[in-house]
Amino acid sequence: MVCLGNICRSPLAEGILRVKAEKAGLDVEIDSAGTSNYHIGEHPDKRTISNAAKHAVDVAKLKARQFSVNDFDEFDHIFVMDSSNYADVLSLARNDNDRRKVEMILNRVYPGSDMSVPDPYFGGEQGFENVFILLDKACDVIVSSLHKS
Ligand code: 4NP
Repeated sequence: MVCLGNICRSPLAEGILRVKAEKAGLDVEIDSAGTSNYHIGEHPDKRTISNAAKHAVDVAKLKARQFSVNDFDEFDHIFVMDSSNYADVLSLARNDNDRRKVEMILNRVYPGSDMSVPDPYFGGEQGFENVFILLDKACDVIVSSLHKS
């Protein structure tokens, strides 16, 4: 799960997917990262932690890291939150195999739409709840697709 800062959207996506994968009995490795180095080593934004907790998702102990080219080797799927994350991650891809792994996460809910998960960082609480609703839907689709693979 990849966003810009790895303190708002992608840690929430990581936490939501982990809960759903555990409930589904899937044995998968889930992680998140930011394209930027702005918040390396920091815990998620307080508003992310409290929104997640409201939905019984614990992201308090996660720590931000920066996406690196090694992630293409470590993971089968790389879900990005918005079109700039998409461009930034693709710019690090070494080949078509890397490129194929990268998807706009909301395309799992709205195929072909290339919709972005809005960055909630500069807004209020409602932005975080909106992000939760979008990511919750996307993670449901992801879990059911992993079941089949
Ligand atoms: P995120 O949100 O990419 O969802 O973690 C942001 C966090 C920090 C900044 C921007 C977006 N920032 O500019 O510091």
